[in-house]
Amino acid sequence: MCGIVGYIGTQQAAPLLVEGLTRLEHRGYDSAGVAVLGPSGIKVVKRAGRVRDLSEGLPKRFTGKIGIGHTRWATHGPANDVNAHPHTDAGDRVAVVHNGIIDNAAALRAELTADGVELSSDTDTEVLAHLIARSEADTLESRVAEALSRIEGTYGIAVTHADFPDRIVVARNGSPLIVGVGDHEMHVASDLAALVRYTTTVAHLDDGEMATVTAGGFTTYRLDPGGLAATHRRAREVDIDPGDYEAGEHESFMHKELLEQPAAAERMLRGRLDERFGTGHLGGLNLDARELRAIRRVKILGCGSAYYVGQMGASLIEELARIPADAEAASEFRYRNPIVEPDTLYVAVSQSGETIDTLLAVQEVRRKGGRVIGLVNVVGSAIAREVDGGIYLHAGPEVAVASTKALTNMFLGFALLAVQLGRVRDLSIADGRRLIAGLTAIPGQIEEVLATEPDLADIAKRLAEAESLFFVGRVRGFPVAREGAQKFKEISYRHAEAYQTSELKHGPLALISTDVPTVAVVPDDELVERNVAALHEITARGGPLTVVTHRGVDLGDLAGRAHRVDVPKNERELDPILLTIPLQLLAYQAALNLGHDIDKPRNLAKSVTVE
Ligand code: F6R
Repeated sequence: MCGIVGYIGTQQAAPLLVEGLTRLEHRGYDSAGVAVLGPSGIKVVKRAGRVRDLSEGLPKRFTGKIGIGHTRWATHGPANDVNAHPHTDAGDRVAVVHNGIIDNAAALRAELTADGVELSSDTDTEVLAHLIARSEADTLESRVAEALSRIEGTYGIAVTHADFPDRIVVARNGSPLIVGVGDHEMHVASDLAALVRYTTTVAHLDDGEMATVTAGGFTTYRLDPGGLAATHRRAREVDIDPGDYEAGEHESFMHKELLEQPAAAERMLRGRLDERFGTGHLGGLNLDARELRAIRRVKILGCGSAYYVGQMGASLIEELARIPADAEAASEFRYRNPIVEPDTLYVAVSQSGETIDTLLAVQEVRRKGGRVIGLVNVVGSAIAREVDGGIYLHAGPEVAVASTKALTNMFLGFALLAVQLGRVRDLSIADGRRLIAGLTAIPGQIEEVLATEPDLADIAKRLAEAESLFFVGRVRGFPVAREGAQKFKEISYRHAEAYQTSELKHGPLALISTDVPTVAVVPDDELVERNVAALHEITARGGPLTVVTHRGVDLGDLAGRAHRVDVPKNERELDPILLTIPLQLLAYQAALNLGHDIDKPRNLAKSVTVE
């Protein structure tokens, strides 16, 4: 959510900043801006709209070899030119870009206004520029530290100052910041995606850390109340393929990431399957068999799609380990004063590892003495650092706002965890081996489902024509339906509502008509007949129906009345993941038909780092 870039070196900054912002656009795309510091001081260009609008509006002579830039997802104040970052003080001596939220911005604005300062935007960030400009400390670092000491909230910031034209100062508290080391030049970014074209030698700042970045290198400090204490952070080489951040020949990142799922799933499972003992190897959990046996309950915390996959995970754990398990929206958890029990295992699930609601839920559990593990994709992210252990998802970078491959790997992570928890309890070695064999088959089976994409295009086209749709499922199928509806609404902007098939007759049937299609998830389980009976109530009312089911399932006389989408059969417990894939494809194809910007759905941004 929002992206920061910075450059200092021997080249003109503006084109590099714009290029970096383009790579970060998935983080926020309602406005963008850059500030460059040249011989005649700081110049800022910023505007509402996309990075390409900014780029087209840059003046020819916009020179300077130091600069900062920002792509915004509006929080305080509407998306307009004035509210776009960078923000400056009245004299344009200081420019600031900021990710995060300043909670006491209103009080600081009032204080500044009372002192005669004129604020020009509605943003919380602008107060920082004024506070830094008003500081009389000797160094830029001390001025920034003094301003930050007045701030309550979260931030990742980059600052330039006309009186200190040899440096950019950056600081982090709750919002990521990375320094990249080039050849006689240095880069700054909130996400590796903006850096990998230029360097893979990077240093991730910690919360409470600040860095001075000059063309020749960087120095880091801890922002202690008593002053700045050096932290001597070093840059490290990261093992990243810059190609992972390019869509290449694909029409969108979402499509690329959808198709990457078999390979991503294989990476997730590699080295983690113990065929002999029918269990999973999850060394990163930092839990021995005795500790695993002592767990009496599992509580999964995540947001959005991660929450829905958490629901799939909770059923897996209950089924295989027979431990009570449930998933809860992390955004709600800490506001209901949750009871945190020592023998409950809390599992935070997040692709980005930066989702603020999930991070704050983790902190709440830890504050109350609970043990939390993470299922996280981004290595070294805030949640990954905060938890007591965990399972990395190895999905590779996910750029599209609509999550696909990370979610698949979350499911596989839950399956491994459930098998491991089961095997130190009542799950037999035969069942453990059966599931491990099932997991081994998943990447190939995902490939098979992906190959059916051309067959789904026609169904997707029809679904896209409807203003409103239902996604229904029961038991294992219900979280699949929820995730299907989520993906569909995110990128097609159609109203897609998920319901338990069994609950249709308790209300939603009133909405069924020839204009309201339903997508039903019908796993090959003991509920097939009941599912079919409930779905007849839809077709009887003229409701168009698509059934996503397993090969060989007998849909009886529903067969002639519904479109059918088949996935291969695996072990019953693992059903949800293969059933999810066609729903991703349907959402994708529908959005494509509607001509939407699939990777940047309106009003959304990748990684929600503000509450
Ligand atoms: C849906 C989607 C979001 C995220 C949610 C959590 O496609 O991408 O609902 O799943 O914002 O994000 P992470 O997993 O980064 O915590």
